Amino acid sequence: MHGINKVAIIGSGQMGGGIAQIAAVNGFETVVYDLSTDALDRCKSLHNKLLSRAVEKGRMTDDDVSKTQSRLTYASSQDAMYDADIVIEAVVEDLDIKKKIFSDLADKFTENQILASNTSSISITDLATSVGDAADRFIGMHFFNPVPVMKLVEVINGLATSEETTKRTIALSEAMGKVAVPANDRAGFVSNRVLMPMINEAFYAWMEGVAEPEHIDEIMKLGMAHPMGPLRLADFIGLDTCVHIMEVLAEGLNNDRYRACPLLKQLVVAGRLGNKSGHGVFDYSK
Ligand SMILES: NC(=O)c1ccc[n+]([C@@H]2O[C@H](COP(=O)([O-])OP(=O)(O)OC[C@H]3O[C@@H](n4cnc5c(N)ncnc54)[C@H](O)[C@@H]3O)[C@@H](O)[C@H]2O)c1
Repeated sequence: MHGINKVAIIGSGQMGGGIAQIAAVNGFETVVYDLSTDALDRCKSLHNKLLSRAVEKGRMTDDDVSKTQSRLTYASSQDAMYDADIVIEAVVEDLDIKKKIFSDLADKFTENQILASNTSSISITDLATSVGDAADRFIGMHFFNPVPVMKLVEVINGLATSEETTKRTIALSEAMGKVAVPANDRAGFVSNRVLMPMINEAFYAWMEGVAEPEHIDEIMKLGMAHPMGPLRLADFIGLDTCVHIMEVLAEGLNNDRYRACPLLKQLVVAGRLGNKSGHGVFDYSK
């Protein structure tokens, strides 16, 4: 149904590494490409560590692990990707960088190849303009972090995405052990359009003194059965990323109600970016 044997991933960071892992574990020949050889080395050692842990926990056998490893290639040259049946891009969240990657590769793509981006906020329709006539094979494949654990792939149809591309992408996501849910290409898609305003509102509640951050999170966890409160989740996502996504929503949906909360922006200015900087809403330095 999906007609895919070989999966190529561009970017071996947090998301690209996770996508490569589940592709290989689920039987696909997988190549992961990155500009940075350090990033590729880190990706490979993380894969080896996670696969060994899966053996310790009885989820995989030694034989499964060696077969998975034999399906994985770590490439610092793009050549290894040209014959893949799908290319999934997972580099930094920057429109120009992503467009350049796709336009540089455009004449190397084969006719049946799906071109996918794991972007969490950039317009798929806009990205697809970088591949000319192949826009009908361009689609969003929005995985969630950590990829091996989170079940969802939000499959985003751009204006030109063909029905066949959507069907093949959904079938591939399922073959990778995920649940694929389609959405159309509007700012924030579904996930961030619904999640981010809730997080933003939690910052307003804190700023206006409605409750202390711990209490805002506790109320949302226990009252709404959320596994994590919105402020801790914001720290996990990165407060700078939250501001960026609010800006995408405000701009893309042309509505000021999506403007980032002043307190959220102030924490970013102060360098309190969340877990990655050791301090965001909460202090992780100890
Ligand atoms: N982190 C998340 O929670 C999350 C969730 C969903 C979607 N996303 C999206 O996934 C994408 C990647 O995010 P991440 O968190 O994995 O980032 P990351 O910074 O961990 O990894 C990005 C990787 O891309 C590589 N790279 C940069 N430019 C490149 C280029 N021109 N060619 C090849 N490789 C290049 C970098 O060396 C790095 O290894 C972004 O678009 C992000 O919005 C992230």
